[in-house]
Amino acid sequence: MIQSFNRINQVTGTLSFLGDKSISHRALLISSLANGKSYIKNLSDSDDVKSTINCLMELGIEVVLNNDEAIVFGRGFRGYLKPMNPLNAGNSGTTARLLAGILSVQKFESILIGDESLSSRPMRRVIEPLTQMGSKIKSNDEGRLPLQILPAENLWAINYNMPVASAQVKSAILFAGLHLEDETIVIESMQTRNHTENLIDLRVVKEDEKIISTVSKNNYPEAKEYFIPGDISSAMFFIVLALLTKNSELVIKDVSLNPTRIECLSLLKRMGGNIQIEKKGISNNEVYGNLFVKSSDLSNVKIDNEIIQLIIDEIPILSVAGIIADGVFELRGAAELRVKESDRIKAICTNLLKLGLEIEEFDDGFRVSGLIKKHSEPFDSFGDHRIAMAFAILSSLFDEGGSVEGFECASISNPNFLKQLQAISS
Ligand code: S3P
Repeated sequence: MIQSFNRINQVTGTLSFLGDKSISHRALLISSLANGKSYIKNLSDSDDVKSTINCLMELGIEVVLNNDEAIVFGRGFRGYLKPMNPLNAGNSGTTARLLAGILSVQKFESILIGDESLSSRPMRRVIEPLTQMGSKIKSNDEGRLPLQILPAENLWAINYNMPVASAQVKSAILFAGLHLEDETIVIESMQTRNHTENLIDLRVVKEDEKIISTVSKNNYPEAKEYFIPGDISSAMFFIVLALLTKNSELVIKDVSLNPTRIECLSLLKRMGGNIQIEKKGISNNEVYGNLFVKSSDLSNVKIDNEIIQLIIDEIPILSVAGIIADGVFELRGAAELRVKESDRIKAICTNLLKLGLEIEEFDDGFRVSGLIKKHSEPFDSFGDHRIAMAFAILSSLFDEGGSVEGFECASISNPNFLKQLQAISS
């Protein structure tokens, strides 16, 4: 489906977002492990989070949805039922990788599958540490889905030095470690998002620049209440739109301000973005608050390799800010973008080439210079929600608007994008 976007002349108003996708997945999974009823307020309504709910229902977990609140009837330690069907994670890497951690320590066999995009993404990064713990996981020769996860007999706690900066891999190991008597230790040299640690209240220490998380059965969760702060990654599209549109002021309420998730705000501020941050509360160790954004003239700054994992999901929309900002936009050290929902380096470069910009593509990034010369061709979403929404925002900055082919995939993370765009635009 081709979606057209008219020029937006001004952005005003207030937006609030349903729960952050990463936190929503984790609250559901943790609630399913606990014994008894957990209440989750402001749960994400994204397709990805629905994939997690569907998998949990296959595992015998009852989830009752009432608007943006969920009640999860957790079945307690090793209480899942053996699934009758393969567990379909759809497009969601977080569902597949985090569930792999939980399933790999169960006493039954399960099969994890996903859609075409997810079936082309690397799974060895979770198979490898989970196998070190004694799990039995079979994949195809490329180390991709489907995964056949066999009942585990002997399991061991491990000390694991993370070879990739991945919160999904870290969380898979922590979820497996929750089922073991001994302490599993995960060591990161690059901080990644820490929602799993926050929600199960793990001990995390920093030593010699390394972040060390420790988990064991002692941390096994109990049923509780969650409030999920708004999705900052979904908000970022509107933040960039407000910054780049003249005479604009946008307020965003109750959004996640977890320090491992707001590096893109800091970067936009360094680029000259007028963004005020107001902390409001903490729920289950997750900070949230309000943002006040005003139109700004942006200039490109150097993006350090050390922050890439903290802005990884925001790079599509950051690239839009980068090509409008003064100066050359350059991104390096971001090879992980090639194994996201699409090859995001290729997807961004292909779309930017349609504008007549000069693009240099690298294995781990790209460099954009020159001026936008044309914008008549539709952009391609590549079936990737964040590419679709980033180029929707770029389209609405052009005098004659623009369009995005395959825009419907935006519902993977934000089914409310079009409504929200309309609500703040004039
Ligand atoms: C996520 C972690 C990141 C991120 C993804 C969600 C998570 O992936 O890109 O959208 O919820 O843990 P990696 O951990 O693979 O980098």
